[in-house]
Amino acid sequence: MRIIIKDDYEKMSKAAADIIADMIRVKPDCVLGFATGSTPIGTYKELARMHKEENLDFSDVKTFNLDEYLGIGMEMSKPYETDQSYARFMYEELFKHINLKKENIHVPDGLTKEPENFCSWYESEIKRYGGIDIQVLGIGGDGHWAFNEPGSSLASRTRVQALTKQTLEDNFNSFYRKAKVKKEDMPHFAITMGIGTILETKHVLMIVNGINKAGIVAEALEGCITSKVTASAIQLHPGKVTVILDKPASSKLTWSIGK
Ligand code: PGA
Repeated sequence: MRIIIKDDYEKMSKAAADIIADMIRVKPDCVLGFATGSTPIGTYKELARMHKEENLDFSDVKTFNLDEYLGIGMEMSKPYETDQSYARFMYEELFKHINLKKENIHVPDGLTKEPENFCSWYESEIKRYGGIDIQVLGIGGDGHWAFNEPGSSLASRTRVQALTKQTLEDNFNSFYRKAKVKKEDMPHFAITMGIGTILETKHVLMIVNGINKAGIVAEALEGCITSKVTASAIQLHPGKVTVILDKPASSKLTWSIGK
């Protein structure tokens, strides 16, 4: 596991974008796994800049997103305020700024009427494309990876997952700002790649910033491997793992950064 510590969020974001851009230059038809949330926004901004100013070409790139709320999805006909889907987030934060082809984008379909069939299909699509070359991940306040809440099997596959109270609390602000919904109206379920699915990606790229995440980062990287902190499965990944932290997020690490 390679742990890179950067001074601040901007430098963390730039370092992550550089790794992704290098992959695209070496393998223009690579398969990228994307995440949502506040953490990767700076990385996506930098990728969009590289596309605009340095001709970083996404025309053959394929993408798979980690998760999506169940019951909502991107319906472009509806106004922005009524759509807090992760598909919409990806469109606004990255996809509309780069030259990805629509048919190469995969975000779990939160509007599916057959979630179980959809989840199996999603798994098979990832395999059909040859697996994910780089998977971007953050970490939730409760240590989740994607929507793999505490207690999720570390061998889990893409499936429907109930969201915990903490995740609903954590995500409510961004949800509310866009939709003015009540807490009880937030989707309580999501489709998420499983931990087993994530562990099959060739290169795990985890990015974390902020002092609020310092404790959970230390637990995930240096604590016991446990389904209570599903991101601790990072220690089980057999391939390439890069963790990029800003200084505050790294402040509770002990042995792994040589303190
Ligand atoms: P955040 O979410 O980037 O908004 O902190 C991370 C996550 O829940 O995985």
